[in-house]
Amino acid sequence: MPQPFAQPEPAAMFRLFDRTAPTYDLLNDVLSLGLHRLWKRQAVARLQPRPGARIVDLCCGTGDLALLLAERVRPHGRVIGVDGSAASLEQARQRAAERPWLPLEFIHGDVLTLPLAPGAADGVMMAYGLRNLASVAAGLEVMRHLLKPHGRGVVLDFNRPPHPLWAQAQRRYLQQVVAPVARVLDLEGEYAYLERSIAAFATGTQQETLARQAGFTVARHHPVAGGLMGLLELSLIRNGPEPAPPGWPPGANPVDPPVRRDPDQSPLGIPTAR
Ligand SMILES: C[S@@+](CC[C@H](N)C(=O)[O-])C[C@H]1O[C@@H](n2cnc3c(N)ncnc32)[C@H](O)[C@@H]1O
Repeated sequence: MPQPFAQPEPAAMFRLFDRTAPTYDLLNDVLSLGLHRLWKRQAVARLQPRPGARIVDLCCGTGDLALLLAERVRPHGRVIGVDGSAASLEQARQRAAERPWLPLEFIHGDVLTLPLAPGAADGVMMAYGLRNLASVAAGLEVMRHLLKPHGRGVVLDFNRPPHPLWAQAQRRYLQQVVAPVARVLDLEGEYAYLERSIAAFATGTQQETLARQAGFTVARHHPVAGGLMGLLELSLIRNGPEPAPPGWPPGANPVDPPVRRDPDQSPLGIPTAR
């Protein structure tokens, strides 16, 4: 069962990721022995992005996945990365500036409240973001809201392994590897959050149920790396854009699918944050 856990407020969450941003990529490589790169490639393979596709990478962080996606959809596609941590996005933008030919842009904001245009994306991705949102259900609703009628979504995140041995291995890894490394970098509090958030995260089956409730017609959770990680594969068949989720600004609910209006608007009709 998920453990009760008070999720930090979004502003506190963004400050947390602002603090980890300078060392985030290095720590990801060290702590996963580089395996997060493989899992992200597996996630991209499940999304099946095609050249020309429009993809949104929610909770894009420092942008490594958004860059991978942009390689797959170029030259005529588009990738929009969205994140609430300004420092993480700064890293993402610097990274993207090294490959200016990639069709990629980043937007700063909370994925649960930004007025992202509905029904315009061929694919939506979220890596290690869903667990951090105030509501898993709301995150899945946003993914559905963004997709075109035949769009696909993929969520990559930690998973609580059903097998006790793997569960114990995961706990030991978090307490005996992650915590000491974080302590050395003075990020102990930030990484202690990781263990609590995994314990509180919805199981694969619960994620499938929530995804169906959010309107996905297909929702399958695949364990990765012995169940330490999980990939939630989502697809959708529907007839057109739907009303914005409750609480979204009225402007987020145009009747017609968004079109590119001017150079200051992203191809998905999202005002571009600069
Ligand atoms: C663990 S990092 C993952 C970053 C990247 N996707 C990756 O796979 O390395 C989680 C990211 O989610 C972002 N995040 C968490 N809640 C968010 C929200 N409500 N809106 C936007 N970004 C959010 C954080 O700022 C952080 O950059």
